[in-house]
Formats: sequence, structure tokens, C-alpha cells
Amino acid sequence: MNWVASQTAADKALQQELLQELLAKGGKLPKHVAIIMDGNGRWAEERSFTRTQGHREGINSVRDIVEASSLLGVKHLTLYAFSMENWRRPRPEVTLLMELLLHYLKSELDELHRNNVRLQAIGKLNALPKNVQKQLFECIETMKDNTGLTLTLALSYSARWDMVRAVQMMALDVRRGKVSPEDITEESFAEYLQTHTMPDPDLLIRTSGEMRLSNFLLWEMAYSEIYVTQKYWPAFRRDDLYEALSDYAKRERRFGKTSQQIASEQANADEPSGLKRILQAFR
Ligand code: FPP
Repeated sequence: MNWVASQTAADKALQQELLQELLAKGGKLPKHVAIIMDGNGRWAEERSFTRTQGHREGINSVRDIVEASSLLGVKHLTLYAFSMENWRRPRPEVTLLMELLLHYLKSELDELHRNNVRLQAIGKLNALPKNVQKQLFECIETMKDNTGLTLTLALSYSARWDMVRAVQMMALDVRRGKVSPEDITEESFAEYLQTHTMPDPDLLIRTSGEMRLSNFLLWEMAYSEIYVTQKYWPAFRRDDLYEALSDYAKRERRFGKTSQQIASEQANADEPSGLKRILQAFR
């Protein structure tokens, strides 16, 4: 399915309205949206469904959010699909999540590829079952030259693990004489993280009302805006994403500066977000 061709008129109108609203409020479409998909179990429990059904419906939300983000022109979407701590769940649930992931990768490959999505993964990927690793690397390879949305799946991921890994690699480079300790900067450290190819998230969305970062992108989210919704992940669909983006547009991101400084910088800036261009492409 081609997402542009199959987009409903109603959804197109909603997206256009949202982009116009963002433009009017200072032109902020986040380049990078990161999502902690939480609440599959509670969504299922409330309906007397099994947790399996919750995770299955969660995949339908993944499909919808990936498609809507791509259509909107978001450049990076990072989904926290499985944390390193999730290995502690009961074995049958872990097995099921791995099977669902494998099925998702197999069934979505063609559609993601056709829609110019580039797939990436972060986390301790060699901890994943061999068949999942094989399918994952095949998908990444197939889509590596695509230029649309970059979809990054965080799998067996832990931000602390990635930071410790980065320090170890940096220490090795110090030992080899490639890096001198005095020259280490925030930028040079970030180059060692698995996320070095993507910009820091502008917006973190967490579903199901929990107020936690859960060991997700701790370094990268130093200045991310956080949006928490009560909705459980399986109920979170594109209209909820638009609401989150609209809320984000109202935020003033100061990065330590004053409101006055930000206002004068915006007045002098040439519409930096590319929103006008995205809107033109809609017509
Ligand atoms: C949190 O709900 C969700 C997860 C641990 C897994 C998220 C996985 C999916 C949505 C499906 C697979 C993903 C992809 C990308 C194919 P929870 O089980 O912690 O819910 P609870 O807190 O209500 O129990």
C-alpha cells in the first residue's frame, strides 16, 4: 500500500490543519519523536483480554503511528519496543514479544520499504533470538538507502548500558592514543553512542500515564519536551499523535536561555522548520 495514495481525505485535512497550526505558532514540527509505548497489559486487562491481545493491538498502533509520522514529514521516530529490563518478564511473555516482533518485521518489510522508510535498531541486539536478529538485519539492509522517515526500534535497549559501552570504547581509543582525555567533549562522547546518527529527540511521548523515563535515551533527552497521555498504547492512534504535536507546538524551548532571547531569535530566523515546504507538498 502506498500511504500517500491511500490517505483518507479526512486525515489529510487533519494533518494540514495541524501543520498550519504549528506554522502559526512558530513552525515547530519535531524532527525526532521518541515514544515509550506503555500500557498494553492494562489495556487488555480492562477488557478481560489476555496480555497477548494487548500486545497484538499494540502492533496496530505501531502501524498507524509509523504511517502517520511518515505522512506528516517527521524525520525520526524512535519506539521503545523492548527494554533490557523486559528480559525479566515471564518467559512465555518474552517469547511472545519476540514472535510478534519477528512477525512485524516479516509482514511490514515490503510496505515500509515501498514507503521509503529507513529502519534502524539500537540496543544489545546480539541478545535477541537468532531468527529475530537475522530478519532485523535483513530489513535494515534492504531499507538502508531510503530517505523518508527513519524508524528506530529500541530492542533489548538500556540507556545506561549504551553509555557504559560508549565509555568503554572511548577508553580503548584513549589507550590506543586516538583520543586524549583533555579533548573529550559532549559532542565527541555522543559520537560513541548508538544514537550518534540521529538528532536528539525533540519530543518524548509516554502512554498510560506513568511519569518515568525507564532507562530510555537518558543522554539524548536532556532537553526533550515530555508529553504524557493517560491513553494506553493499544488505544493510541494518529489523532492522539496530532494532539501531542499540537501540545508540543505550544511549548517554549529555551535551552537555558530567556524567553526574550528566544523571541528575538525567532523574529530574526528564516522559517527554519521546513513547514512551509511540507505544507506545499500537501497541495
Ligand atoms: C508495554 O506494555 C509494552 C511493551 C513492553 C512492549 C511494546 C511492544 C509492542 C507494542 C509490540 C511489539 C513492537 C513492535 C515494534 C513490533 P506493558 O506490557 O508494560 O503494559 P502494562 O504496563 O499495562 O502491563
